[in-house]
Amino acid sequence: MRITKTFSETRMVATGQIGLVPTMGFLHEGHLSLIEAARDTNDTVVMSLFVNPLQFDREEDLARYPRDLERDVGLAAAAGADIVFAPELEEMYPGEQLTRVIVNRLSDEMEGPNRPGHFEGVATAVAKLLAGVRPDRSYFGRKDAQQLAIVKRMAAELSFPGSIVGVPIVRERDGLALSSRNIFLSPQERQDALALNRGLTAAADAAERGERAASSLINSVYAEIGAVSDLSVEYVTLASQDLVQPIDELDRPAFLALAAWSGETRLIDNVHLDRSDDGFFADRGTRLRTESVLYRGEG
Ligand code: PAJ
Repeated sequence: MRITKTFSETRMVATGQIGLVPTMGFLHEGHLSLIEAARDTNDTVVMSLFVNPLQFDREEDLARYPRDLERDVGLAAAAGADIVFAPELEEMYPGEQLTRVIVNRLSDEMEGPNRPGHFEGVATAVAKLLAGVRPDRSYFGRKDAQQLAIVKRMAAELSFPGSIVGVPIVRERDGLALSSRNIFLSPQERQDALALNRGLTAAADAAERGERAASSLINSVYAEIGAVSDLSVEYVTLASQDLVQPIDELDRPAFLALAAWSGETRLIDNVHLDRSDDGFFADRGTRLRTESVLYRGEG
Protein backbone atom coordinates (compact mmCIF):
# COMPACT_ATOMS: atom_id res chain seq x y z
CA MET A 1 0.00 0.00 0.00
CA ARG A 2 1.35 3.36 -1.03
CA ILE A 3 0.20 6.83 -0.08
CA THR A 4 0.66 9.34 -2.88
CA LYS A 5 0.25 13.10 -2.83
CA THR A 6 0.51 14.08 -6.50
CA PHE A 7 -1.12 13.00 -9.75
CA SER A 8 2.24 12.32 -11.43
CA GLU A 9 3.45 10.10 -8.58
CA THR A 10 0.13 8.24 -8.64
CA ARG A 11 0.43 7.57 -12.38
CA MET A 12 4.02 6.44 -11.93
CA VAL A 13 3.18 3.91 -9.21
CA ALA A 14 -0.02 2.55 -10.80
CA THR A 15 0.48 -0.24 -13.34
CA GLY A 16 -1.81 -2.16 -15.69
CA GLN A 17 -5.54 -1.59 -15.59
CA ILE A 18 -6.37 1.10 -13.07
CA GLY A 19 -9.55 1.24 -11.00
CA LEU A 20 -10.28 4.55 -9.25
CA VAL A 21 -12.47 4.93 -6.16
CA PRO A 22 -13.06 8.63 -5.39
CA THR A 23 -13.93 9.39 -1.75
CA MET A 24 -13.78 12.15 0.81
CA GLY A 25 -12.52 9.76 3.47
CA PHE A 26 -13.90 8.74 6.84
CA LEU A 27 -14.52 5.38 5.26
CA HIS A 28 -17.24 2.88 5.99
CA GLU A 29 -18.24 -0.38 4.31
CA GLY A 30 -20.05 1.52 1.54
CA HIS A 31 -16.72 2.95 0.41
CA LEU A 32 -14.95 -0.35 1.01
CA SER A 33 -17.40 -2.16 -1.28
CA LEU A 34 -16.28 0.17 -4.09
CA ILE A 35 -12.67 -0.86 -3.44
CA GLU A 36 -13.71 -4.53 -3.50
CA ALA A 37 -15.56 -4.04 -6.79
CA ALA A 38 -12.50 -2.31 -8.25
CA ARG A 39 -10.25 -5.10 -6.92
CA ASP A 40 -12.20 -7.71 -8.94
CA THR A 41 -11.43 -6.24 -12.36
CA ASN A 42 -8.31 -4.05 -12.19
CA ASP A 43 -4.57 -4.52 -11.60
CA THR A 44 -4.17 -1.41 -9.47
CA VAL A 45 -6.83 0.05 -7.20
CA VAL A 46 -6.40 3.73 -6.41
CA MET A 47 -8.61 5.21 -3.73
CA SER A 48 -8.58 8.98 -3.75
CA LEU A 49 -9.24 10.83 -0.54
CA PHE A 50 -9.93 14.52 -0.83
CA VAL A 51 -12.44 16.64 1.07
CA ASN A 52 -13.48 18.76 -1.89
CA PRO A 53 -14.23 22.35 -0.81
CA LEU A 54 -15.99 23.13 -4.12
CA GLN A 55 -18.92 20.86 -3.31
CA PHE A 56 -19.76 22.24 0.14
CA ASP A 57 -22.36 24.98 0.15
CA ARG A 58 -21.87 25.74 3.84
CA GLU A 59 -18.48 26.67 5.22
CA GLU A 60 -19.24 24.95 8.59
CA ASP A 61 -19.95 21.62 6.91
CA LEU A 62 -16.53 21.69 5.29
CA ALA A 63 -14.83 22.56 8.58
CA ARG A 64 -16.80 19.86 10.44
CA TYR A 65 -16.17 17.09 7.93
CA PRO A 66 -14.47 14.21 9.81
CA ARG A 67 -10.86 13.56 8.78
CA ASP A 68 -8.66 10.64 9.88
CA LEU A 69 -6.04 9.66 7.31
CA GLU A 70 -4.46 6.93 9.40
CA ARG A 71 -7.79 5.21 10.02
CA ASP A 72 -8.75 5.47 6.34
CA VAL A 73 -5.42 4.13 5.08
CA GLY A 74 -5.77 1.07 7.34
CA LEU A 75 -9.31 0.34 6.17
CA ALA A 76 -8.51 0.95 2.48
CA ALA A 77 -5.47 -1.34 2.61
CA ALA A 78 -7.44 -4.12 4.31
CA ALA A 79 -10.13 -3.84 1.61
CA GLY A 80 -7.54 -4.22 -1.16
CA ALA A 81 -6.51 -0.72 -2.23
CA ASP A 82 -2.97 -0.46 -3.64
CA ILE A 83 -2.69 3.29 -3.51
CA VAL A 84 -4.33 5.94 -1.38
CA PHE A 85 -4.05 9.18 -3.29
CA ALA A 86 -4.48 11.99 -0.77
CA PRO A 87 -3.72 15.27 -2.54
CA GLU A 88 -3.38 18.57 -0.73
CA LEU A 89 -5.56 21.46 -1.83
CA GLU A 90 -2.69 22.88 -3.93
CA GLU A 91 -2.40 19.70 -5.97
CA MET A 92 -6.12 19.56 -6.77
CA TYR A 93 -6.65 23.28 -7.23
CA PRO A 94 -3.37 25.13 -7.73
CA GLY A 95 -3.97 28.86 -7.79
CA GLU A 96 -7.25 30.45 -8.67
CA GLN A 97 -9.71 27.96 -10.10
CA LEU A 98 -11.73 29.55 -12.92
CA THR A 99 -13.02 26.38 -14.56
CA ARG A 100 -16.22 24.61 -13.50
CA VAL A 101 -17.88 21.55 -14.96
CA ILE A 102 -21.65 22.00 -15.16
CA VAL A 103 -23.98 19.21 -16.19
CA ASN A 104 -27.25 20.91 -17.04
CA ARG A 105 -30.70 19.49 -16.21
CA LEU A 106 -29.45 16.51 -14.22
CA SER A 107 -29.10 18.60 -11.08
CA ASP A 108 -32.48 20.36 -11.39
CA GLU A 109 -34.39 17.90 -9.19
CA MET A 110 -33.95 16.03 -5.93
CA GLU A 111 -30.69 17.05 -4.23
CA GLY A 112 -29.97 19.90 -6.66
CA PRO A 113 -32.37 22.63 -5.45
CA ASN A 114 -31.41 21.93 -1.85
CA ARG A 115 -27.66 22.26 -2.45
CA PRO A 116 -26.79 25.06 -4.86
CA GLY A 117 -23.42 24.56 -6.55
CA HIS A 118 -22.96 21.14 -5.01
CA PHE A 119 -23.02 19.03 -8.17
CA GLU A 120 -20.92 21.56 -10.05
CA GLY A 121 -18.30 21.08 -7.33
CA VAL A 122 -18.60 17.29 -7.56
CA ALA A 123 -18.37 17.21 -11.37
CA THR A 124 -15.37 19.55 -11.36
CA ALA A 125 -13.47 17.46 -8.79
CA VAL A 126 -14.30 14.17 -10.50
CA ALA A 127 -13.27 15.54 -13.92
CA LYS A 128 -9.98 16.61 -12.39
CA LEU A 129 -9.45 13.15 -10.84
CA LEU A 130 -10.26 11.37 -14.11
CA ALA A 131 -7.91 13.65 -16.06
CA GLY A 132 -5.13 13.35 -13.50
CA VAL A 133 -5.27 9.65 -12.58
CA ARG A 134 -6.50 8.37 -16.01
CA PRO A 135 -8.28 5.27 -14.67
CA ASP A 136 -9.72 2.52 -16.86
CA ARG A 137 -12.73 2.26 -14.56
CA SER A 138 -14.08 4.49 -11.80
CA TYR A 139 -16.46 3.32 -9.10
CA PHE A 140 -19.34 5.25 -7.55
CA GLY A 141 -22.03 4.19 -5.10
CA ARG A 142 -25.66 3.92 -6.11
CA LYS A 143 -26.35 5.51 -2.72
CA ASP A 144 -25.77 8.87 -4.40
CA ALA A 145 -27.96 8.13 -7.40
CA GLN A 146 -28.00 11.64 -8.78
CA GLN A 147 -24.23 12.04 -8.39
CA LEU A 148 -23.69 8.76 -10.25
CA ALA A 149 -25.92 9.93 -13.13
CA ILE A 150 -24.13 13.29 -13.31
CA VAL A 151 -20.68 11.71 -13.29
CA LYS A 152 -21.69 9.25 -16.04
CA ARG A 153 -23.06 12.03 -18.21
CA MET A 154 -20.04 14.26 -17.63
CA ALA A 155 -17.53 11.49 -18.41
CA ALA A 156 -19.39 10.54 -21.59
CA GLU A 157 -19.86 14.08 -22.88
CA LEU A 158 -16.27 15.11 -22.13
CA SER A 159 -14.97 11.87 -23.71
CA PHE A 160 -13.10 10.57 -20.69
CA PRO A 161 -11.82 7.20 -21.90
CA GLY A 162 -12.54 5.01 -18.84
CA SER A 163 -15.90 3.63 -17.79
CA ILE A 164 -18.03 4.66 -14.80
CA VAL A 165 -19.31 1.76 -12.70
CA GLY A 166 -22.26 2.03 -10.26
CA VAL A 167 -22.09 -0.17 -7.15
CA PRO A 168 -25.10 -1.28 -5.00
CA ILE A 169 -25.91 0.46 -1.70
CA VAL A 170 -24.41 -1.11 1.40
CA ARG A 171 -26.81 -1.09 4.36
CA GLU A 172 -26.36 -1.65 8.06
CA ARG A 173 -27.74 -4.84 9.61
CA ASP A 174 -31.13 -3.22 10.20
CA GLY A 175 -31.40 -1.93 6.62
CA LEU A 176 -30.41 1.71 7.16
CA ALA A 177 -28.23 2.83 4.23
CA LEU A 178 -24.66 3.34 5.45
CA SER A 179 -23.68 6.95 5.85
CA SER A 180 -21.18 8.63 8.14
CA ARG A 181 -24.17 10.69 9.37
CA ASN A 182 -25.73 7.61 10.95
CA ILE A 183 -23.51 8.13 13.99
CA PHE A 184 -25.49 11.29 14.81
CA LEU A 185 -28.83 9.44 15.17
CA SER A 186 -30.21 8.83 18.66
CA PRO A 187 -31.63 5.33 19.23
CA GLN A 188 -35.16 6.66 18.66
CA GLU A 189 -34.21 8.62 15.52
CA ARG A 190 -32.51 5.55 14.17
CA GLN A 191 -35.60 3.45 14.84
CA ASP A 192 -37.69 6.06 13.01
CA ALA A 193 -35.24 6.13 10.09
CA LEU A 194 -35.71 2.41 9.43
CA ALA A 195 -39.10 3.29 7.90
CA LEU A 196 -37.21 4.74 4.91
CA ASN A 197 -35.81 1.37 3.88
CA ARG A 198 -39.11 -0.35 4.72
CA GLY A 199 -40.93 2.07 2.41
CA LEU A 200 -38.45 1.65 -0.43
CA THR A 201 -38.54 -2.12 -0.02
CA ALA A 202 -42.34 -2.16 -0.22
CA ALA A 203 -42.17 -0.07 -3.40
CA ALA A 204 -39.44 -2.33 -4.81
CA ASP A 205 -41.68 -5.35 -4.19
CA ALA A 206 -44.58 -3.61 -5.93
CA ALA A 207 -42.41 -2.68 -8.93
CA GLU A 208 -41.23 -6.27 -9.27
CA ARG A 209 -44.84 -7.44 -9.13
CA GLY A 210 -45.58 -5.20 -12.11
CA GLU A 211 -46.73 -1.89 -10.62
CA ARG A 212 -45.75 0.88 -13.06
CA ALA A 213 -47.48 4.01 -11.82
CA ALA A 214 -45.10 6.42 -10.11
CA SER A 215 -47.90 7.67 -7.85
CA SER A 216 -48.56 4.19 -6.59
CA LEU A 217 -44.86 3.38 -6.02
CA ILE A 218 -44.41 6.69 -4.19
CA ASN A 219 -47.52 5.97 -2.11
CA SER A 220 -46.09 2.67 -0.94
CA VAL A 221 -43.11 4.60 0.42
CA TYR A 222 -45.38 7.11 2.17
CA ALA A 223 -47.47 4.30 3.63
CA GLU A 224 -44.43 3.35 5.74
CA ILE A 225 -42.85 6.70 6.45
CA GLY A 226 -46.13 8.56 6.94
CA ALA A 227 -46.76 6.35 9.97
CA VAL A 228 -43.67 7.76 11.70
CA SER A 229 -44.59 11.25 12.80
CA ASP A 230 -41.05 12.31 13.68
CA LEU A 231 -39.69 11.77 10.17
CA SER A 232 -39.83 14.82 7.99
CA VAL A 233 -39.78 14.02 4.27
CA GLU A 234 -38.20 16.38 1.73
CA TYR A 235 -39.00 14.41 -1.38
CA VAL A 236 -39.86 10.98 -2.70
CA THR A 237 -39.25 10.89 -6.46
CA LEU A 238 -39.29 8.30 -9.22
CA ALA A 239 -36.66 9.56 -11.68
CA SER A 240 -35.03 8.24 -14.84
CA GLN A 241 -31.51 6.91 -14.30
CA ASP A 242 -30.03 8.77 -17.26
CA LEU A 243 -31.53 12.27 -16.97
CA VAL A 244 -32.72 12.28 -13.35
CA GLN A 245 -36.11 13.61 -14.49
CA PRO A 246 -39.30 12.66 -12.64
CA ILE A 247 -41.35 10.12 -14.57
CA ASP A 248 -45.04 9.16 -14.18
CA GLU A 249 -44.61 5.62 -15.40
CA LEU A 250 -41.87 3.10 -14.68
CA ASP A 251 -41.06 2.50 -18.36
CA ARG A 252 -37.26 2.88 -18.36
CA PRO A 253 -34.34 2.33 -15.93
CA ALA A 254 -35.17 4.51 -12.93
CA PHE A 255 -34.64 5.00 -9.26
CA LEU A 256 -37.07 5.72 -6.49
CA ALA A 257 -35.20 8.14 -4.27
CA LEU A 258 -35.96 10.05 -1.12
CA ALA A 259 -34.53 12.53 1.35
CA ALA A 260 -35.84 12.84 4.88
CA TRP A 261 -34.85 14.23 8.24
CA SER A 262 -34.76 12.11 11.34
CA GLY A 263 -34.28 14.70 14.05
CA GLU A 264 -31.42 16.96 12.97
CA THR A 265 -29.95 14.44 10.55
CA ARG A 266 -30.71 14.49 6.83
CA LEU A 267 -30.72 11.06 5.21
CA ILE A 268 -31.00 9.96 1.57
CA ASP A 269 -31.79 6.52 0.21
CA ASN A 270 -33.09 4.88 -2.96
CA VAL A 271 -33.75 1.70 -4.86
CA HIS A 272 -32.58 1.45 -8.46
CA LEU A 273 -35.08 -0.20 -10.77
CA ASP A 274 -33.28 -1.90 -13.65
CA ARG A 275 -34.84 -3.70 -16.58
CA SER A 276 -35.01 -7.47 -16.37
CA ASP A 277 -36.30 -10.10 -18.83
CA ASP A 278 -39.86 -9.86 -17.59
CA GLY A 279 -40.13 -6.35 -16.21
CA PHE A 280 -38.04 -4.59 -13.58
CA PHE A 281 -35.54 -5.79 -11.05
CA ALA A 282 -35.03 -3.76 -7.88
CA ASP A 283 -31.52 -3.28 -6.54
CA ARG A 284 -32.19 -3.18 -2.80
CA GLY A 285 -28.48 -3.16 -1.96
CA THR A 286 -26.70 -5.47 0.45
CA ARG A 287 -26.72 -5.67 4.25
CA LEU A 288 -23.77 -5.94 6.59
CA ARG A 289 -23.76 -8.95 8.87
CA THR A 290 -21.76 -7.22 11.60
CA GLU A 291 -21.68 -3.77 13.10
CA SER A 292 -20.18 -1.13 10.82
CA VAL A 293 -16.62 0.15 11.29
CA LEU A 294 -18.30 3.53 11.82
CA TYR A 295 -19.02 2.54 15.41
CA ARG A 296 -15.61 1.07 16.11
CA GLY A 297 -13.72 2.95 18.80
CA GLU A 298 -15.42 6.26 18.09
CA GLY A 299 -15.79 9.14 20.47
P1 PAJ B 1 -18.09 10.31 -0.36
O1 PAJ B 1 -19.31 10.87 0.28
O2 PAJ B 1 -16.88 10.06 0.48
O3 PAJ B 1 -18.51 8.97 -1.07
C1 PAJ B 1 -17.58 8.26 -1.84
C2 PAJ B 1 -18.31 7.19 -2.61
O4 PAJ B 1 -18.88 6.23 -1.72
C3 PAJ B 1 -19.47 7.73 -3.46
O5 PAJ B 1 -19.42 7.14 -4.76
C4 PAJ B 1 -20.69 7.29 -2.69
O6 PAJ B 1 -21.83 7.09 -3.51
C5 PAJ B 1 -20.19 5.97 -2.11
N1 PAJ B 1 -21.02 5.54 -0.97
C6 PAJ B 1 -21.32 6.24 0.14
N2 PAJ B 1 -22.14 5.55 0.95
C7 PAJ B 1 -22.40 4.38 0.32
C8 PAJ B 1 -23.18 3.23 0.63
N3 PAJ B 1 -23.88 3.13 1.75
N4 PAJ B 1 -23.20 2.22 -0.26
C9 PAJ B 1 -22.50 2.30 -1.41
N5 PAJ B 1 -21.73 3.35 -1.76
C10 PAJ B 1 -21.68 4.38 -0.91
O7 PAJ B 1 -19.38 11.11 -2.93
C11 PAJ B 1 -18.35 11.69 -2.60
O8 PAJ B 1 -17.59 11.29 -1.53
C12 PAJ B 1 -17.81 12.91 -3.36
O9 PAJ B 1 -18.89 13.62 -3.90
C13 PAJ B 1 -16.80 12.53 -4.47
C14 PAJ B 1 -17.43 11.64 -5.52
C15 PAJ B 1 -15.57 11.85 -3.86
C16 PAJ B 1 -16.32 13.83 -5.18
O10 PAJ B 1 -15.72 14.70 -4.29
